[in-house]
Formats: sequence, structure tokens, C-alpha cells
Amino acid sequence: MAKIITVQKGTKDILPTEIDSWHFIENAANEVFSNAGYKEIRTPIFEATELFARGVGDTTDIVNKEMYTFEKSERSLTLRPENTAGVVRSYIENGMHRLSAPVKLWYKGPMFRYERPQAGRQRQFHQVGMEMFGIAQPTADAEAISLAVNYLNKIGLNDLDVEINTLGCPTCREEYKKKLKEVLKPYLSELCPDCQKRYEKNPLRLLDCKVEECKAIYEKPEVKKVITSDFVCPECHEHFESVKRYLNILKIKYTVNKLLVRGLDYYNRTVFEIKSNNLGSQNAVCGGGRYDSLVKNLGGEDTPAVGFAMGMERLISLIPKQNENKLDAYVVSTNIEETLKLVSTLRNAGIKVDFDMTSKKFTKQLEKASKLAKYALILGEDEIANGKISVKNLEKSEQVTLKINELKEYLFNCQI
Ligand code: HAM
Repeated sequence: MAKIITVQKGTKDILPTEIDSWHFIENAANEVFSNAGYKEIRTPIFEATELFARGVGDTTDIVNKEMYTFEKSERSLTLRPENTAGVVRSYIENGMHRLSAPVKLWYKGPMFRYERPQAGRQRQFHQVGMEMFGIAQPTADAEAISLAVNYLNKIGLNDLDVEINTLGCPTCREEYKKKLKEVLKPYLSELCPDCQKRYEKNPLRLLDCKVEECKAIYEKPEVKKVITSDFVCPECHEHFESVKRYLNILKIKYTVNKLLVRGLDYYNRTVFEIKSNNLGSQNAVCGGGRYDSLVKNLGGEDTPAVGFAMGMERLISLIPKQNENKLDAYVVSTNIEETLKLVSTLRNAGIKVDFDMTSKKFTKQLEKASKLAKYALILGEDEIANGKISVKNLEKSEQVTLKINELKEYLFNCQI
């Protein structure tokens, strides 16, 4: 029979040899987010297609080119390409606006985007992220950025670049888009086909085009002057200044990148990305920002919000490989009845223990024990007859014989 294999383009198994690294970053997320008052939320992996079309924006690449959409019972459904829209949907549907603000939620899980697979970019990938609802003040933006940095530090990533920008509010942004279009008009025919479409539909997205010819146009003095202008209104300006002030107080190093516009349509005011020099072209480990209109656009009450998400595969590729410690103990015995009882008692006491299910020879079992465990618990017929057990420290090759009822305490004292 022919073998069935994974859909290799952009999907991957996470194997037992890698899982300790996943547990490490997941446990750290639980700890760091819980310490800051966030509660985990788990939303469905597929949602109504309209949620993403309205939420993420129907001019974005994600919605236009990258969604896994399918029909079921005459409904159009989509595997979530990101989780902000789903969390907002859940916030509205479950009446979370009635809770006292801020409502702080975090999540982890798989996302799906039909992108061209390459290093750091998969079609099924995982994100860990947070969303905070109900705070319009710049403290929330600074808290989100500092939470991201704290989490990255917690998993040992200290050498990363934080980039921030402000996209202003719909009013000041409109004016900016107009100016941008005006100055780019003479170059329209020289822009890449995608940028020509963006010029009409979403001119802000022109700024993060990666095509060299387009990048060169954005470097032209008259274009650069518009891009680097401080276009935002006084309120948005003050908001951004406060975010920067708070980041300075928190000693978070950042640079302002005027080209940072993000690939999703829901943002206003602060946007940010955290990048690593060790990731090649897909160098963003984290992306986020403020999105004050999304809750209303998806049918909820007017609610300010801010959040971010990180690509977990990218995090894993940056941290040293984690390896869980060995088993605490391995029972070496040919008496299966006594072994079953002992293993069950020790596991119930929280001791990590395993045993040989096939009653192999003692020497074979000892060999296996020294590969897998810190201690071998030797239960020979003599020991059983005398109510005793021999405990061999496999690292130091030292052995003691104890009464069986002293074993648990002995193992705990060994600080297994
Ligand atoms: P995003 O920038 O599209 O933002 O994704 C966030 C992060 O997910 C990226 O920085 C990257 O690390 C990772 N990522 C994205 N696409 C892929 C892929 N194809 N393969 C591997 N990793 C990937 C969002 O998704 C927003 N929902 C973030 C947000 C939350 N904004 C506000 N709240």
C-alpha cells in the first residue's frame, strides 16, 4: 500500500523530540500572561468566512489570497488565519463588555494561511498572543508591548528589535493617504502589480512592499518626505508620545519605523513588531497594535482594544532546544505483579516512573534504566521476600537497600 504522508507544503508534525520546547514556551506564556492578569481563551479553529472578511479586511492579502475557505451546509467557513477576529467575536457574543475593563485575554493555537512556504513561514503555524479590551489610554499600548518583551525575555530572547509606529486615526490617516497617492502618482506605472492594486484600495500598504523597485521609489526624496512626515492629528500625536514615554520609563528600547503599517486592516494609532536578526527574511516574531474600531465593526459596542501575536515556530527556532529531565526511576524486576503495584503507588505520589512490560532479563532492564532514568528500583525475589527494595543511583553508581515503605520518602529526599 502506498504511504500517506503530511501535506508537505507548509505543514509539519511536532514530534516528541521537539515537544519539550513547545511545552517550555507554552508554560512560560501561561505564567507571564497570568501574572499580568490575563485569562486564557480558546475559540474555534473555524469561523464564518465573513468574520475575517469584515474583521481582517477584504483588501488584505490574508483575506484575498491566503484563506482556507470551504462550504458546509451552504455556509462559507474559514480556518482561522489569525485569532484577533475570533477573540473579538467571542468577546461580543459572550457579553464580555459587561465585565469591568480591562478584559485581558490570551491564547495559543494553530492558524492557517495559504502562503508560499519558506523558512519561517508555514501554512499551518501556531501563534501565542493577547488581546486587551476597554482601555483607550496609551498605558494599554505600553502594557501590551512590555508584556511581549517580558515574555520574550522569559524564554531567553533578549536580543530583539522593537519597532513601533502610529497609523493615526481614520481622520488623520485619510489625509495622509491622499498625500501619499499624490506624491506616488507619477511613479504609478513603475510600481509592482500588487502595489498598483494597493494604490487604489489600500495605499498605506504600499509602504511595506518588499519589491526592490518599489522600495527604491519610496526612497526618492519627495516621497520620503511624505512618508516621514508627522501626519497625525494632535490627539494621535499626544497618544504616541505617551506610549514612547512609558516605554522609556520601562527601559524598553525601540525604534520608530515610519514604514511599519502591518498587513491587517483593523489597526489605528500604535502598531508594533518585534524582529530578530537571526530569522532571515521572515524576521518578525511578534506583531500587534491598537484596534479601536474592530469591536464595533463586528457588531459590538464601541470598545478600544490592543493586542499582539507571536509565531511560535519562529520562537522555537530561536531558543535552545529544551530537553525534559530523565524519568525519576525505572523499576527493574521480573515479578510483574509487584512491579505493577509499585509503579502505580509511585505514579500516584507524583514520581515519574516506568517499567519493563515484557519481563526481560535483569541486565537488559538495568541497561534500559540507565538510559532512561536517574534511579533503578531493583525488586528481586530476595527483596520481595523481605519487604525491601534496592535503589541504585544510576549517575553515581551507588546502591542502598531500604524497606519498601521507606522508598517514597527516600526518593523525595533525593530531590528527584
Ligand atoms: P501577524 O503579524 O499577521 O499578526 O502575525 C503575528 C505573528 O505570527 C508574526 O509576527 C509571525 O511571527 C507569525 N506568523 C504569521 N504568519 C506566519 C506563517 N505563515 N508562518 C509562521 N509564522 C507566521 C496577527 O496575526 C494579528 N492577529 C496580531 C494581533 C493581535 N494584533 C492585535 N492583536
